[in-house]
Amino acid sequence: MASHRALLFDGPGLPLEIRQRPTPPVGPNQVLIRIQACGVNPVDWKTADLGWCVTQWPATMGCDGAGVIVAVGSDVTRVRVGDRVFMNGWMDNPDTCTFQEYALMEDSMVGKIPDFMPIQEASGISMASFTAFVGLFHETGAEVPLPPNARAHVPEDSFLNYNHMDTGASENYQWPPDLSKFGWCITVLGGSSSVGQFMIQYARIAGFRKILTTASPSNHAYLRTLGATHCFDRTATASDIAAIASPTTFQASAVGTNQPQSTEYTPLVFDAIGSTQTATMGVDILSCLTPVPMSRILVSPSVEDIPTVVEDVDYRGIYALVGALWDLSLPYFIGMEEWLAAGEIVPNRIQVVGTVEQAHEALAMSRRGVSGVKLVMTMP
Ligand SMILES: NC(=O)c1ccc[n+]([C@@H]2O[C@H](COP(=O)([O-])OP(=O)(O)OC[C@H]3O[C@@H](n4cnc5c(N)ncnc54)[C@H](OP(=O)(O)O)[C@@H]3O)[C@@H](O)[C@H]2O)c1
Repeated sequence: MASHRALLFDGPGLPLEIRQRPTPPVGPNQVLIRIQACGVNPVDWKTADLGWCVTQWPATMGCDGAGVIVAVGSDVTRVRVGDRVFMNGWMDNPDTCTFQEYALMEDSMVGKIPDFMPIQEASGISMASFTAFVGLFHETGAEVPLPPNARAHVPEDSFLNYNHMDTGASENYQWPPDLSKFGWCITVLGGSSSVGQFMIQYARIAGFRKILTTASPSNHAYLRTLGATHCFDRTATASDIAAIASPTTFQASAVGTNQPQSTEYTPLVFDAIGSTQTATMGVDILSCLTPVPMSRILVSPSVEDIPTVVEDVDYRGIYALVGALWDLSLPYFIGMEEWLAAGEIVPNRIQVVGTVEQAHEALAMSRRGVSGVKLVMTMP
């Protein structure tokens, strides 16, 4: 049986080593990708430390990756051998993980990389951008501004074609949803994080007129280029932010013509960090805003740090797994191909740490915390 090099470890906290693991056969609807670069996410060091999502030992890891297709299954028509693609591996299926030479993926769950884009930049796209995509469009019912080609691939029975009754979203939503219900305003806590940068860009192309964010001042200028309209230091108070996010201030600012009535306003905060501090800040901001007639929404990528329940704050955690959200994944990849090619969405700025042989250092850097960059490793 063929084998290839992979980053393996035998248990939580145990050394990460490059060893051989079997190269899987390619199924009819699958592609085999020679990974050339892989993005590092916080979930990777959490997996290394705690064994998160591991289903078998020795385990490998890595959700973000990009490379070249080297084999396709008999039924694959969407992509071909030689295409450069980015992908999102699933931790519970080691064949799809990206900290290894070859990764297996469904053909509908890869996105072609524009010719002009370096593979290292593309390798950090999928995890954070899919998380933001799910958070905004699945969890809130905000309208997905998919390009027509991507919209054509939305399955008939997808939630995207219905109202949001069965997705956990409020029954107050109607399809198509109207961003005036959010006051055309969204607050993204942690806009310089990988997830936050994509959230700001999706909010911009969705049509939000006011996009508030918190980040260190050194990142404010960059976040404005992505679409943020109001940047706050992380030390800003909830009332500072709510003063700008409130519908009264919005109406007074004379932005656009479709200004909401304050009674039709659902304050929306996206916590891109998922810490107790940011979740509490999100609740505090929402508590400053007038929540009638609908509830206030706090979306977060972490379901661990649910703050004290506040009446009318609807807390929605995200679990962004391309393999599980089948009706979103293909439209997401096709949409991203078009948005990236047109420059409407840009990848995170990257910092190349070294090769996957330096994974220990890359995970340590992620654990210590980064500022406004995506850590990337190359495959030697
Ligand atoms: N549920 C899912 O499916 C899913 C998927 C992906 C990620 N996640 C989770 O989402 C979170 C973010 O991941 P990521 O990869 O985007 O993180 P990241 O890029 O590593 O985050 C680093 C950034 O966080 C910012 N930051 C840290 N604390 C902050 C605070 N209190 N307020 C504002 N900004 C703060 C820093 O901002 P400054 O440097 O500007 O200060 C820095 O730029 C993690 O908890 C991750 O585990 C969940």
